[in-house]
Amino acid sequence: MDRILVEGGSSLSGEIPISGAKNACLALMPAALLTREPLTLTNAPFLSDIITMRELLASLGCEVAGLQNNRVITIVANKITNHVAEYDIVRKMRASILVLGPLLARERRAIVSLPGGCAIGARPVDIHLRALESMGAKLELKEGYIFAEARTGLSAIDYTFPIVSVGATENIIMAASLANGVSVLRNCALEPEIQDLCNCLIGMGAKIQGGGTSTLIIEGVSELRGHTHSVIVDRIELGTYMLAPAISGGEVLLSGGKIELVESFSNTLVETGARVTVSDKGITVTGSINGINPVNISTEPYPGFPTDLQAQMMALLTLSNGISTLAENIFENRFMHAPELNRMGANIIVEGGNAKVIGVKSLKGAPVMATDLRASISLILAALAAKGQTVISRVYHLDRGYENVTAKLSACGAKIKRLSS
Ligand code: UD1
Repeated sequence: MDRILVEGGSSLSGEIPISGAKNACLALMPAALLTREPLTLTNAPFLSDIITMRELLASLGCEVAGLQNNRVITIVANKITNHVAEYDIVRKMRASILVLGPLLARERRAIVSLPGGCAIGARPVDIHLRALESMGAKLELKEGYIFAEARTGLSAIDYTFPIVSVGATENIIMAASLANGVSVLRNCALEPEIQDLCNCLIGMGAKIQGGGTSTLIIEGVSELRGHTHSVIVDRIELGTYMLAPAISGGEVLLSGGKIELVESFSNTLVETGARVTVSDKGITVTGSINGINPVNISTEPYPGFPTDLQAQMMALLTLSNGISTLAENIFENRFMHAPELNRMGANIIVEGGNAKVIGVKSLKGAPVMATDLRASISLILAALAAKGQTVISRVYHLDRGYENVTAKLSACGAKIKRLSS
C-alpha cells in the first residue's frame, strides 16, 4: 500500500487549482440513468470514488466514456440491461445508493445492495427508503439487498424529510423528476451540490422550482433529455487547501475558489487569525504571523460549518494559543483523526461528540494512519507544520477525494511525496 512522506516546516507560496466537486459529481452521474440520451459532465475530478461510480453505472448497462485527465465524462444510459447494483461495488462507496431513485423512476424496479455502515458512523439509508415508499415503491430488504419495485411508476409526494440528508434529498429529487404529478419536498438539504444537481436536471428538461431553498417543487415529466453540465468547484477541497498556508505559514492562491461556497468555514478561519482575500482569480489565504487563535466550532448542515472540514480545522487548532472546542453533530464517530494527531504531539481530548483541543507549541513528525478520507488530509496538514518527517499510511482513503494532492502541495513548496509500495 502506498504511503505519503511529508517533511514539515516549509512555508507555502504559490497557487493551487481547485478541482470539480467529488460530491456533486457523484450525484450528477446517476442522473444519467434518467435519460436515454448522453449526459456529459465537464470539470469532473479524476478520483477513485468517481471511478467506482463509473464502474457501477457500466455494470447497469451504461456506456461510459472519457475522464482520465481530460475532466470530461459522458454517460449514455440508452438501455439499462441490469437492475442489480452489486454489493462488491456498493460496499466501496455509500453514494452508490444514489442509483436507487433514478432506476426506480425510469425502470420501475431496482435491486441495490445496502451500503452498510462506515468508519465515521452507522449512516443508515432509512430516509431514502421511507420517501421512496411514500412515492408508491414496494420495498423489501433481504440478503443484504433492497428489492424495490414501482409497477405503475412512482407517484408525486408532499414530503417533509425528518432530518436534513444530502443523499436522501438528491435521490428523491431525481425520483420526483420522472414521477407522476407534482411533488413538494420540504426540509431539503441546502448543500451547493444539490443546487448543482437541480441545475443539471433542469438542463435535462426537469421542472424544478425553489432551487437553493429547503422546499422544492418538482413537476414530474415523462422523459428527460441529454445535456452537458459543468461540475461546480469542490468546496471541501477548497476549504482544505485554505488551511494549508494557515497551518504552515505563507500565502496561497486557491484558484477557481468561490467564497460563497465556504462562507461559514472562511469566517472561522479568519477568527483563527488567517487573512482571506477574494479576487476574480479565486481566494488567497495568508497565514497569521501572530499565532493561531483558538475557536469553538459546531458542525451543521449547509450553510453551517461542514462536517467534511472538521478534521482539517482540528489539525490547525492543535497549534493554537488556547483551548478550542469542536462539536460534531452530523456523524457519531468522526474524531478518529484525534488519536493520530495526538501521536504527533497534539493535546486533544474526545468525549462523545465533543473534542477539546488544547493548543501546543509544536507538532512532531510520526508514523500515522489515515482512517477515512477527511482524516487522511488532516494528517497531511498537520505534517506540513510538524517538525521532522511524518509517514501517512492507508492513503487509498485520500485517493477517494483529493486529486493530485502531492503535486498540488509541492508546487507551493511543501516537501511531500508519495512512496509506492
Ligand atoms: C453527504 C456527503 C458527505 C457529507 C455528508 C454530510 C456525498 C457523496 N457525501 O453524505 O461527504 O459528510 O453529506 O454533509 O455527498 N442519515 C440517516 N438516514 C438516512 C440518511 C442519513 O439517519 O437515510 C443520517 C446520517 O447517518 C448522518 C446524517 O443523516 O448522521 C446526514 O447524512 P447525509 O446528509 O445523508 O450524508 P450523506 O448524503 O451520506
